[in-house]
Amino acid sequence: MLDLPRNSGILAIGLLVGSVSNAEPDTYIRAGAIIDVAAGEILDNRIIAIEDGAIAAVTLSTGAPVPTGAEFIDLSGYTVLPGLIDAHTHLLSDSDDHGLNSLVVSLPEATINGVKNAATTLQAGFTTVRNVGAPGYADVALRDAIAAGEVAGPRMLVSGPPVGITGGHCSDNNLLPYEYGVTETGVADGPWEIRQMVRQNVKFGVDLIKTCSTGGVLSAGTRLDAIQYTLEELEALVDEAHAHGRKVAVHAHGNAGIRNAILAGADSIEHASFLSDDVIELAKEHGTRFVMDIYVTEHILTEGEANGVLPESLDKEREVGAIQRESFSQAHAAGVAMVYGTDSAVYPHGDNARQFSRMVQFGMTPAEAIRSATVSAADLLGVGDQVGRIAAGLQADLVAVSGNPLEDISILEQVEFVMKGGVVYKQP
Ligand code: ARG
Repeated sequence: MLDLPRNSGILAIGLLVGSVSNAEPDTYIRAGAIIDVAAGEILDNRIIAIEDGAIAAVTLSTGAPVPTGAEFIDLSGYTVLPGLIDAHTHLLSDSDDHGLNSLVVSLPEATINGVKNAATTLQAGFTTVRNVGAPGYADVALRDAIAAGEVAGPRMLVSGPPVGITGGHCSDNNLLPYEYGVTETGVADGPWEIRQMVRQNVKFGVDLIKTCSTGGVLSAGTRLDAIQYTLEELEALVDEAHAHGRKVAVHAHGNAGIRNAILAGADSIEHASFLSDDVIELAKEHGTRFVMDIYVTEHILTEGEANGVLPESLDKEREVGAIQRESFSQAHAAGVAMVYGTDSAVYPHGDNARQFSRMVQFGMTPAEAIRSATVSAADLLGVGDQVGRIAAGLQADLVAVSGNPLEDISILEQVEFVMKGGVVYKQP
């Protein structure tokens, strides 16, 4: 626990100087401390005034009483942070759906799973996610149901079906034999088919485009080092996506595919496992973000087999897991912009915060790890003016923990209070 000044018995509020609105805040939170994530500093004894779901002001507590009629939430024994952001989730899949198990999950079942997993993710303190791959545009429907307040879950930015080559990681149905004639929605080969698929995804409501420029661990028959899409194809994809104001997230493990994706103008590289020094420099030059899921290897190698992960995928994971962690250290030390993303669904939803301690173990300070899951993630998602910091004018997306995560980052695995848009979803 933090050593905090005790509440004198009178409810304390701050001076609302500099409030962004003339109307009165409807909710006041007294925080034992808040974290200024941009500065990486802990600020004791703050009042967060909330109006209409947004932060109206953040002030030092003065001890003045709360106006009658306003709600008061006492978090004086807690540290308050901005709601956490996971930039690589799959809310519509479950961690026991690997390999052949995935073939018996219907679209309605995946959708219902999504509703369940959205609630679990929010309870873990993740108030925004970027969902990078889902079948049948069910992610679009889930995003909209959450935004309308019909379903509890994080704010979602969604990609719809990933766009990928025939037989590739992103079109991932390489398990059924030829005679089934199954081709996934996102399969597109050649610049014009790719542009058409991007247009289709935009038409059906996606926020971003997900693609793959190499094979993957969990897909059958793909190689981590083999490029998927030529540079020409990737350039067409990025050009079309950007023309529609959509960012592009590119799955890539092998160095050649990572290089192609950066050169094509990708906004983020997912996984980024095998990195040469010149590709690290290239990413810095282009301002490409890396979203490196360095927790999940532990889960795949211990629980994967029981959950259907294919033997070939287990082999690939043994090849990539430790190297990806070394690459993470190198890329971070070199100054590549890192964003928090975990590949939830490969491991159980709700364990999203477990990656923080691994990021610190592999070279980040706790403040840097927190920044990657707040202000830096909001920036990559293009929502930095709405979420990712505790500041007037931003959404009241807040989480609270006991203790100081700048001293012990693993505390973030025990989020005790969750607010999203001024609505409380979890209380101590
Ligand atoms: N979805 C990713 C893939 O199949 C998971 C990779 C997980 N392993 C890792 N070391 N990050 O390629």
